[in-house]
Amino acid sequence: MMEKMRTDMANSPAFDSKTHPHLNPRLAGAQTSATLALNERSIQLMAEGRRIFRFGFGQSPFPIPARVVEALRANAAERNYLPTAGLGELRRAIADFHQTRSHPQTTIDAEDIVVGPGSKELIFLTQLAFGGELLLPSPSWVSYRPQARLLGLRAHWIETRSDRGWRLQAEDLDRYIDRNPGAGRLLIINYPNNPTGVSETADGLAALASVARKHGLVVLSDEIYAEMHHTGNHISLARFLPESTIVSSGLSKWCGAGGWRLGALVFPPQLRRLREAVISAASETYSAASAPVQYAALCAYAAGPEIERYLNDARRILRAAGRSVCARLREAGVEVAAPEGGFYMFPDFSQHRERFEARGIRTGRELCARLLEETGVALLPGEDFGRPANELTARLAFVDFDGASALKAASEIAPQNELGTDFLSLYCANVVEGAETIAAWIEANPENAPEVSR
Ligand SMILES: Cc1ncc(COP(=O)(O)O)c(C=O)c1O
Repeated sequence: MMEKMRTDMANSPAFDSKTHPHLNPRLAGAQTSATLALNERSIQLMAEGRRIFRFGFGQSPFPIPARVVEALRANAAERNYLPTAGLGELRRAIADFHQTRSHPQTTIDAEDIVVGPGSKELIFLTQLAFGGELLLPSPSWVSYRPQARLLGLRAHWIETRSDRGWRLQAEDLDRYIDRNPGAGRLLIINYPNNPTGVSETADGLAALASVARKHGLVVLSDEIYAEMHHTGNHISLARFLPESTIVSSGLSKWCGAGGWRLGALVFPPQLRRLREAVISAASETYSAASAPVQYAALCAYAAGPEIERYLNDARRILRAAGRSVCARLREAGVEVAAPEGGFYMFPDFSQHRERFEARGIRTGRELCARLLEETGVALLPGEDFGRPANELTARLAFVDFDGASALKAASEIAPQNELGTDFLSLYCANVVEGAETIAAWIEANPENAPEVSR
């Protein structure tokens, strides 16, 4: 359906404010999300018989736990609209889940939760309800900034440093606000991070919390990858900034259920007015998240030993795959922060700038386009995440493997054991070969590089 819709859009004549005077100027020039466009090009190349390493599009490779799927089947007949804020029992279960796992020092009430059709929509409604300016570390996930643009809100990028693993530094945030004062600002942070894969330490979070408090910021802490922290040690910012942190999460990543569209926000009691505004906007747009999915989500949030085992195995696989790719890229002279959670890393190829310039590659986008055409490895340029166009950075998603068979094989290996190279070459072969292919491509002589029309 989505494929068809995108094809229809691509085939229709340019839809802009000149040809369609009624088009909202905020949508003129709007494009399909960058990740989806790359996925389409990869599919096209595969249809032409090319082997593609799908490192561009990041969705969980793992199947939804069997008992959660069973719960959806059992609830297929749930047909009533549910409360806009979400099913009461589900809100209770989500509150307990967060409280016991990542915010143990705070008390979360079911009244603090909002359930919606994916955290993306809830982040959009939070920006709408908040209505102020947005502060974003660069790089950041692809959708925050376009959402602000759709709402006519200003967004400011705050620099991060590659030698600090691209984590937002409290002193950089403090300095930015001192130099660019303003009131009514929403900061969005995200960890484990998409696109960088790095997470936060307790000290880093405490420092960010104190700067946020000093400047009266509200922080939306996007913790959708919390349960995919590679060692299971995620800590919520809400522990350090309980009065003004909104935590966003959902089933998409830790439960492999992106297509189910179930997200949740945890508000602090101090921001109940904002929560009510989000619910009011939700009631006028989507009404409520799907009823069968909410009932099935009860089973996921109840957790239990089967889900813990699933999470432990998924983390072991991601940890092994991430480490292996990171090591291979570093060997090839690529600077890359070691991934600590989720599915991504953010290599910086700048050390090879001269070599690339000799091949006519000057920007991150050119680098990704040539890498895809010449080797079949799909990456997304750093520019899509707010980095400068001429920076040779890209996001690599190391999830091109069959998550079901990898999970099954991991479940047969003692849970405390690390998964080694034998496991990776059997169950994550594309990931290993893809990293090898990137390394070989970097090292290739420019005169040997295939001629590509520019
Ligand atoms: C950092 C981040 N936040 C939010 C989302 C949105 O997730 P969903 O709308 O599926 O809950 C994603 C999905 O890719 C993500 O990577």
